[in-house]
Amino acid sequence: MTLSALVNPSVLSQPVYEPGKPIEDVARELGLDPAGIIKLASNENPLGASPLGIAAATRALGQAELYPDGGCFVLRQKLAARLALAPEQVVVGNGSNELLELLGHVFLRPGDEVVMGAPAFIVYKLVTLLFGARAIEVPLVDHRHDLSALAKAVTPRTKLVFLPSPNNPTGTANSEAEILTFVRGLPEHVVFVFDEAYAEYLENPPDIRPLIAEGRKVIGLRTFSKIYGLASLRVGYGYASAELAGLLNRVRQPFNVNAIGQAAAVAALDDVSFVAGARAMNEAGLRQLETAFRSRDLEWVPSVANFVLVKVGEGARVFAELQKRGVIVRPMKPYGMPEWLRVTVGTEAQNIRFLGALDEASVR
Ligand SMILES: Cc1ncc(COP(=O)(O)O)c(C=O)c1O
Repeated sequence: MTLSALVNPSVLSQPVYEPGKPIEDVARELGLDPAGIIKLASNENPLGASPLGIAAATRALGQAELYPDGGCFVLRQKLAARLALAPEQVVVGNGSNELLELLGHVFLRPGDEVVMGAPAFIVYKLVTLLFGARAIEVPLVDHRHDLSALAKAVTPRTKLVFLPSPNNPTGTANSEAEILTFVRGLPEHVVFVFDEAYAEYLENPPDIRPLIAEGRKVIGLRTFSKIYGLASLRVGYGYASAELAGLLNRVRQPFNVNAIGQAAAVAALDDVSFVAGARAMNEAGLRQLETAFRSRDLEWVPSVANFVLVKVGEGARVFAELQKRGVIVRPMKPYGMPEWLRVTVGTEAQNIRFLGALDEASVR
């Protein structure tokens, strides 16, 4: 008998996630000096990591021989206090990616349906397929989630609805009013997952806590990977009713979040000036890129996040040309947008470097 005959069929048909290319890979493949490469492919923070976070992480490394606190006590207390919720309403994950998968463990069975926009963060689809459920993809309208179309896609089989705002890869957002109305109209058998990975880039992010207070089946997901600059340490969190957070806590690994990441996250929450600086730089960078796209007659999608979609025509070729020039961006073919690239907003100098490389790459 072959090995594959033994495998869960969902695994054999599972698409593989294509991450942003690491700097080291590009350096090796193209014979470039890694120090000269900039990565604008994974929506990381170009200012680096929160200095308070790094200092705390460095201290925590001194006790690397000890298992971490599996319950993330200090971090959950602090997050709960910030959110004005109880610690039992908070669940911490190995990145918010883990929490997306835990939602699959808790709720999805073969034959279930999961409603999501397209294009949206690809992991929603991967998690859905992994658990043998069906992804019901609802096209975005003008690159934005169409909440009335999402509502119409809900059936008696729907278990989860995913909504990222701002959305990856489009950088577009939905308003608090439309989100609250949408969720209040969902039937009882549906769990609403609000993915707020980029919420800190918004001046006034939508607040879904009233929905939690009303006893609705909702969860908000946030991450330390983006504005806090701690992507490598893998810390994300969810907040929901104590019942829903408890279900996710039940299916996670006992030590799913390492102690270095926990310490960094606790400290980073106090790094107010770092976060404010990152937000201001991002705002300026978005304007810089928009001005440059306009002057080059390039179509782009107005973004409120730390990345922007730009239409370059032959996305795969321009992506490769940029890479040869030491600039890594994200080709959008896996998202069904082969003419587009997604570029993370960099520092002013990085944006200039990207635009210069784009000009060279666009000349044929
Ligand atoms: C919309 C969205 N959600 C979740 C994530 C996952 O982030 P992490 O697992 O690093 O917390 C990302 C990462 O790119 C994202 O874009």
